Amino acid sequence: MHDTAPMERPAGLTGDDFTAAGEPLRLFAAWFDEAKRAEPVNPDAMTLATVDPDGLPNARMVLLKGFDERGFVFYTNQDSIKGHELAAAPKAALTFYWKSLQRQVRLRGSVEPVAPAEADSYFASRSRIAQIGAWASKQSSALESRLAFEKAIARFTAKFAIGTVPRPPYWTGYRVVPAEIEFWQERPFRLHDRIAFSRPDRTAPWTKTRLYP
Ligand SMILES: Cc1cc2nc3c(=O)[nH]c(=O)nc-3n(C[C@H](O)[C@H](O)[C@H](O)COP(=O)(O)O)c2cc1C
Repeated sequence: MHDTAPMERPAGLTGDDFTAAGEPLRLFAAWFDEAKRAEPVNPDAMTLATVDPDGLPNARMVLLKGFDERGFVFYTNQDSIKGHELAAAPKAALTFYWKSLQRQVRLRGSVEPVAPAEADSYFASRSRIAQIGAWASKQSSALESRLAFEKAIARFTAKFAIGTVPRPPYWTGYRVVPAEIEFWQERPFRLHDRIAFSRPDRTAPWTKTRLYP
């Protein structure tokens, strides 16, 4: 027999929430806090979409490592496919989906590298093994065998046996500076709530619009 008990749903974006959400960062922070409590694995996972030189979209997951009024930050290898795509076309879209809350957040805008000191500070906070991995991985390049990767890890483990592991010059963070942020909340019978915020540039105030689902 199927369990027909109605699922407990998070509250939708009521008229009050819509009015209260004067700017999207505060609403994102509230949703992200709830996601951290509700999602057992990687509530910080987000799809990063870029475009290649032919305009063909490319999407993959990355982890959100910080956000504030300046934008949303992830870390990666500048020599990866996404790094090359961002160098040629510094614009991106990010999408979060928190299944347990039945919520989606989408944002898009321009992309800029974080300051070297910011990348240094985040790299220093990573585990030593992850730091070695950043040196050993030529992210997105062909790898002849798993053994070749393990040998590279052993080589860099020996190289950095003493002292701190420096940040590789090609490993850094990117900040997506949103021009648009949309919040989507699932509601019964597919009568979902959507609120879109947009601004013409990063210094302009946000305008918000409720959208048909
Ligand atoms: C949940 C999850 C989180 C990930 N987080 C990151 C990340 O923060 N940075 C990163 O470079 N790759 C991350 N990856 C791996 C990327 O999805 C991707 O495989 C890799 O960055 C190479 O992408 P590219 O070839 O398009 O550059 C993550 C993958 C998953 C499934």
